[in-house]
Amino acid sequence: MKFYPAERPLKGTLNIPGDKSISHRAVMFGSLAEGDTLITNFLPGADCLSTISCFRKMGIDIETEGSHVRVHGKGLHGLTAPTEILDCGNSGTTMRLLSGILAGQDFPSTLTGDASIQKRPMGRVIEPLTMMNALINSEHSNGCAPLLIIGQPLHGIRYVSPVASAQVKSCVLLAGMYADAETRVTEPAQSRNHTELMLKSFGADIRTSGLTTSIRPDPHLTGRSIHVPGDISSAAYFLAAALMIPDSEIVLRHVGTNPTRDGILRVINAMGGSVNYRRLSISGGEPAADLEVRYSRLHGTVIEGDLIPTLIDELPIIAVLASVAEGETIIRNAEELKVKESDRLSIMVDGLSRMGVDIEGTDDGMIIRGGRPLHGAIIDSHKDHRIAMAFTIASLAADGETEIRDAECVDISYPAFYRDLAHLLRP
Ligand code: S3P
Repeated sequence: MKFYPAERPLKGTLNIPGDKSISHRAVMFGSLAEGDTLITNFLPGADCLSTISCFRKMGIDIETEGSHVRVHGKGLHGLTAPTEILDCGNSGTTMRLLSGILAGQDFPSTLTGDASIQKRPMGRVIEPLTMMNALINSEHSNGCAPLLIIGQPLHGIRYVSPVASAQVKSCVLLAGMYADAETRVTEPAQSRNHTELMLKSFGADIRTSGLTTSIRPDPHLTGRSIHVPGDISSAAYFLAAALMIPDSEIVLRHVGTNPTRDGILRVINAMGGSVNYRRLSISGGEPAADLEVRYSRLHGTVIEGDLIPTLIDELPIIAVLASVAEGETIIRNAEELKVKESDRLSIMVDGLSRMGVDIEGTDDGMIIRGGRPLHGAIIDSHKDHRIAMAFTIASLAADGETEIRDAECVDISYPAFYRDLAHLLRP
């Protein structure tokens, strides 16, 4: 797909599609609850549809109509043995959270997915699940999918996770629901806490104290209604576009502002960007707000430490923002970027260099000396949705033509992305 510089500022109001992490969890926990769960503003992106398809293969009746989903839950022990391999597509959340659920079932199953997910590290869930007595094998013995899981009676464990990963934490906590005693997970820094908030609202006995979360086994989960807030990770692209293109002024409606996810808003503030919160609300235990953003002159900043997990998926678009900001931006402690849907660290450094940015990759991040003009270039998205969206926004501020290969991969998390961008750019 080809893109050209923005001819006018971004203006108007946009409803941001539902949060991907929360949409996955609503389907999963709804399936394990007794009774119906009605989900509104569900994200009908390819990743969340993979989760729906896996649960349907385990006997759960799920009705979908656009962003309305009704899950007919069958209780904690209601899943049935799948007759086919469970295909997680591109979705790490599906694979890692499902591994925890499947480890405690009384049937075997196989999880696989696309070429990208078959390269992503699954040892991080295999290790704690094995400590819990699960039988889980990487088919090619390389610590990656396909994973063969033979359900077993599980033991409660105390697990100190080496990574601040919500997928690992959630995997262990979900397996903990099928264990013989309490399970505890301690993480090195706070990762997103959607599992904790939502499981509690379904009735689980789950508690967090500092960086440790514990769950008691065999909860009785009850179906409920969930209105999913807009995905801050999707809003991030338009926040960036409005900050970068002179005279822009937009409102992004009902965006999730959970403090474990809002690092990008803190970074924008530190860079001198103007974002105002309006109409604050709570939906399904998750805070949300309308975000009013306008063009701002940005300057460089340092992004590191405990801030990283709160903006991990936004680092590609933050690198774009840093490229137009005056001065130096340093990103540290972000080695997790290398094992996302693609190696986002090297791909961002390579793509932004092609666009004329003074950028240097480091072992755990990047150094960007911003403020030079951006030039159009040919960019390979590596079929990574966040890479495609980040460079689409970069192209708006670049001169000439930018060609993004496999740009349609935005379907993974934001099928309406190009339409929504056109809406904000229309005269
Ligand atoms: C997610 C957690 C994060 C994030 C991913 C979604 C989740 O991954 O990058 O897009 O829904 O729990 P990690 O847990 O690997 O950091």
